[in-house]
Order: sequence, then C-alpha cells, then structure tokens
Amino acid sequence: MKKETKFTHIGRPVAGLATTVNPYISRASTLLFDRAEDLYRGDIRTYGRHGSNIHDQLKKAFCELEGGAHAALTPSGHSATTTAILSIVKTGDHVLLTDGAYGPTRAFCLTYLPKIGVTTTLYDPAIGGDIAGLIQDNTTVILLESPSSLTFEIHDIPAMTKAAKAADVTTIVDNTWSGGITLNPLALGVDISVHAATKYFGGHGDLLYGAIISADAKTGAKVDGYMKSVGFATSPDDAYQILRGFRSVMPRFRQAEATALQLATWLKGRPEVHSVLHPALPSHAGHDLWKRDFTGAACLFGVVLSPTSPEKVLAFINALDLFGIGYSYGGFESLCIHCDPQLRRSHADKLAGPLIRFACGLEHADDLQADIAQAIPRLK
Ligand SMILES: Cc1ncc(COP(=O)(O)O)c(C=O)c1O
Repeated sequence: MKKETKFTHIGRPVAGLATTVNPYISRASTLLFDRAEDLYRGDIRTYGRHGSNIHDQLKKAFCELEGGAHAALTPSGHSATTTAILSIVKTGDHVLLTDGAYGPTRAFCLTYLPKIGVTTTLYDPAIGGDIAGLIQDNTTVILLESPSSLTFEIHDIPAMTKAAKAADVTTIVDNTWSGGITLNPLALGVDISVHAATKYFGGHGDLLYGAIISADAKTGAKVDGYMKSVGFATSPDDAYQILRGFRSVMPRFRQAEATALQLATWLKGRPEVHSVLHPALPSHAGHDLWKRDFTGAACLFGVVLSPTSPEKVLAFINALDLFGIGYSYGGFESLCIHCDPQLRRSHADKLAGPLIRFACGLEHADDLQADIAQAIPRLK
C-alpha cells in the first residue's frame, strides 16, 4: 500500500454509530480506577504521563512511516535528538557527530555532553566507511544528518552503518529533511531515526513536536527507559494535531518538493547565484548517493550567492513579499533566511559567497519564482 493510502487510514477509530474520523482526545493527569488493586498492576496506564490512546495511534503512524519497531514522542524536534542521544550514552562515552548537524544539536554535543563526561568528535559528512577510523573503544553513538543542515551534504549511510555495526555503535539520524517520506534510514541500517515533526507533520508553522523511531524493540526500550526516568510527556492536543497532519502530509510534501526543485533549477542558471545546494540537481556533490538512497527530495534547499555584501543579502531578503523571514520549514508558508551568522563548520572550505536558504510552502511555484525575480536586483 502507498504512503498516501496508509496515512489516510492509520490510527483511526473503527466506524460504529456516528464515529468521529479521528480518535478522541482524552486529557488527563489523573486516571481513575474503580478497584484499588488496579493501581499497581503494572501492565496498564495509571497516570497521564503514560500517554493516551491518541499517543498510541500516533506512535503507530510513526512506526509505519519508517518501518520502525518502536516510536517515542517528544515535545520538540530538538528534544527528540537530545533524548535519543541521552538514552544511549553514559559518562565516559564518546560521540561522533556530523560536522553538518543542525546547530542546536552541535551546541548540545559540544557544550552539554561534556558536563556529563561525554566527549564528541566532529566528522566530515562525506566520510563514508572511513568513519571506522574515528571509532574509539568508548564510542557509543554516531549521529548522522543527511542532507546536512544548511549545506546539504549527503552521507553514504549504508557504508557508515556497516562500520558502526561492526563496532557495536548505535547510529542515530536526524531524518527531518526527508520527513521519512523520501528516505528510510532504518532500511539502510540506522538504529534510530529522529524527526522534528514540527515541520511537515505539524505543517502549519504553529506547533512543536518530535518523534524517535527505533529499528528494534531493544533500542526502543532504552529510549522509553530514559524518557520514563526524566518524566517526559507530550500533550494529547499536540499529538492529535500531528496525527491529523499525517492525513494530508503526502500531497503537501509533494507540492512543496516540486516547487523547490523548480526554483532550484531556475536559480542555478542565474548570474547572481554561485551554486545551488539541492541534492536532486546533478551538479550537487552528493547527487549520486542521493539518487541511490532517496526516493525524492524535500521543500528545503540552499543557495550560495555570487560574492556580494551582507547588506545586499539583507536587502534581497527584505524585498521578498511571499517568503516570510523566519526559521523552520515544512509549513504551508514559504520562508527564507540568511545562514552565515549561524554557519559553523570544522571540515569544510569556506563557501564561495553568502548562503541563503529557501523553504518552499504551498504557494504556486510560479508566484514564488516571480517574487524572487523581483527581489534579485537588490543583490547587485
Ligand atoms: C534538521 C532539524 N532537526 C531538528 C530541528 C529541531 O526541531 P524543533 O524546532 O521541533 O525543535 C530542526 C528545526 O529547524 C531541524 O531543521
């Protein structure tokens, strides 16, 4: 069955007499019992933090998305990443982190993990199977992100997971860009896939949510164990919105993906543009790996401008009418940011010009293209 069909039907109540199309939201901290004996049974939910039916249905949807054995739900995408890492590491361990990681992930690994005695080494996203040479006796996690945040390098995931498995190291991938729709990392040997469901599944720029999908139940139990210890729970209202997002995510994703490719292809030929960072373009350094491992792209891509002043970059972005100026992607609205102030790389050459990032929403591609075209003279 295709994803469009699965996501329309998953987690819905069985129709009876006047049944709602999506599950009911039940809000609870206290759960009541009619027999005191049941409070300590251990095989049932006894408190609101243990979740609700809507959480169960959403976990099923995330397992279905990636072919996972277990899913856990977190209050944001960033907390999905940090929770996955903290579920695995202990004091004395070592983490290998892609140099292209989402900024707050990099900051967490480099500034928080040392406080609990965990060290991190950054690796070149193009390292492939040579990651084996960086694995130490105490390495317990390799964190991947493909494509990289901002610079869009693609990993050779199968080569990296092969090396990790040989050394019994857990691999965690931030799979937010593909939404799990155009990349299935668990099928390529990754142990844990994390998502900012905030993006495509929230879909409307008004909600934060995360998911941690584990390839096997043993890894999933480690995630659950950590989350139970620290007391994470997410609201049933937010879980409902994300499950609702599953219903329409495929056509929204496909339209934004097609728009991004149209704009990327058009921008590539322009004199104001040095290069376009979009894995589906044959000129992209990781294009062959993308073609091998992905089934499509996404709404988000980068543009390295021909050298120009920072003031002109700001003037260009400020002149856009249809692109909002703001972080994130995967919503109905298109967005644009300039990236240089947040770009941190230890293993890459300096880019040839200023970097900007477009997140395509659901406006018509031709209107977005016309909007960029009218703002481009500001770069000169
Ligand atoms: C690749 C990636 N991972 C994680 C996150 C964090 O998601 P959230 O904003 O839900 O914490 C983001 C947000 O922009 C992201 O782009």
